[in-house]
Amino acid sequence: MNDAKEEIKARLPVEDVIAQYIELKRAGRTLKGRSPWGVDKTPSFMVSPEKGIWHDFSANKGGDIFTFVMEVEGISFKEALEKLAAQAGVDMTKYRGGDGQMAKRKARAREALELATKFYQFCLSKNKRVAEYVFYQRNMNRGTIEEFRIGYSPADGQSLKRFLKSRGFSEQEMNDAGLLNRFAGDMFRGRMMVPFIESSASGGVIGYTARVLDKSEPKYLNTPETILFNKSRFIFGLAQAKEAIRREGFVVIVEGNMDVISSHQAGVRGAVATSGTAMTEQHLKILARLTNDIRLAYDGDEAGVKATERAIKMAGDLGINLTVISDYQGAKDPDELIQRGAELWQKAVEERKPAVEWLLDKYEEKLDLNSGFGKREYSDMALKLLENVKDKIERAHYEEVVARRLGVLREDLRGKEEDLERKMEERPKRRLKKAKTEVRGETLKKLEDNILALAVYGGVEAPSEVEIPEEETRLEELELIFDSQYKTWGKEAIKAEMGGLTERLRDELAKNEIGKLQAELESEGIDAEREKEILRRITELQKNKN
Ligand code: UTP
Ligand code: MN
Repeated sequence: MNDAKEEIKARLPVEDVIAQYIELKRAGRTLKGRSPWGVDKTPSFMVSPEKGIWHDFSANKGGDIFTFVMEVEGISFKEALEKLAAQAGVDMTKYRGGDGQMAKRKARAREALELATKFYQFCLSKNKRVAEYVFYQRNMNRGTIEEFRIGYSPADGQSLKRFLKSRGFSEQEMNDAGLLNRFAGDMFRGRMMVPFIESSASGGVIGYTARVLDKSEPKYLNTPETILFNKSRFIFGLAQAKEAIRREGFVVIVEGNMDVISSHQAGVRGAVATSGTAMTEQHLKILARLTNDIRLAYDGDEAGVKATERAIKMAGDLGINLTVISDYQGAKDPDELIQRGAELWQKAVEERKPAVEWLLDKYEEKLDLNSGFGKREYSDMALKLLENVKDKIERAHYEEVVARRLGVLREDLRGKEEDLERKMEERPKRRLKKAKTEVRGETLKKLEDNILALAVYGGVEAPSEVEIPEEETRLEELELIFDSQYKTWGKEAIKAEMGGLTERLRDELAKNEIGKLQAELESEGIDAEREKEILRRITELQKNKN
């Protein structure tokens, strides 16, 4: 198997494989691009052709061509191997010492994990301090601890390895199970062990998420991808939740594994989590087989909004009824709410909002709907969101809602939508070129549009950062923007709007410059003098921001 891997790697340059999914630009000895998972504003995805590896700073993961294809496509190692073998023209049959080999390795890894889990459970029962943490700080009861097979890994870094060795397991076998670190010592040390239990009939352990008992970092250590554990497929808690999901007809997706455990104990047994990774289409498909009532219990922060947007996109075609549970009454997560009272959480999962509605509310909170610019941003975001609503009647309903919030007629919104559609149709022809030359972000472009429209047609002075255009079509475009947003506005209101937009423009420009400087800092071969200069400039820019 390893020979096959090496041959494929030798034939397929890492940058060629990745360039099939994202656009890469050369930056010295490495290539850069945008994260296929992330919400990065500056390119945070890096490829090193020399080393044959990639790293994603925003999603904080990396690896070789195999891990990349596994992650991006949400497929298993075996599937990635086959796919890349075909691309490389490598004949896999010559490597196949019979699939029995792999089946045997997997079975041994499972045995090692089963024994390890028992070992960790035993260690928990023998350690007072840990038992105190689990029972009193996390409030888990005996039934929960048993059902989730909670344990403890000794801190010395050798115990598990020694134990498994005494039971006849080789280092290779422990490695297959993900139980050793790269120095061949115990992977998990001094942590509360929470097994990843498979939801299939076997119900075996395929890995762990392991938490420190104090405030040290990293808080959680998870089993890496192994021959058994594939995180874009694994759903934490599904083994324990499956029956309840079928019986009660809904599933709650929470962010943290501990939220899952608390939720079960609080009587909401249909709760699961995607174990520290973003939800993939695979996850959603697995859950959609059990129920179409899927409730998200994410944080209301920026990451939660992004995750919900992604989920809506994926849910569209699966016929899922997606809702959001968001009222934790000030608690930071479901677990914290449950500690105040199980009934509070039981009530919260009933009081949910359609995901589209929840997002529209979030957009409204973030934007100033009294300003013309805010209205434009809101309608852009809302229309983009509504593209995912496939049902005509449902969509008409939301268009009505959006139009009402903007104080316009649904027809006006429709008009804008048609404009957008037309633009989308024209786009493919020039998309490539645009992606390459467009260095400024969308927001910056929009801000500049509105500022220029106000300057040219609203009779207020423009800030020095923008240049008044002379080109006819550009001026027509600005007139359109002005007419659609500011035509009826008084002088004072226009002045105030210009003031606000100018401030935002300066912020945005500073942000952009900081991004570029940071990228330069990361580049190789930068000299000390320039580095000092950049750091000085970044500090200056950050000071001026507000
Ligand atoms: P949280 O930090 O919100 O976890 O991360 P939590 O469940 O509330 O943890 P407690 O209550 O402090 O114990 C949410 C999820 O992100 C992943 C884990 O899967 C966690 O459940 N995560 C978090 C990691 O993988 N590593 C970390 O260091 C932190
Ligand atoms: Mn928590």
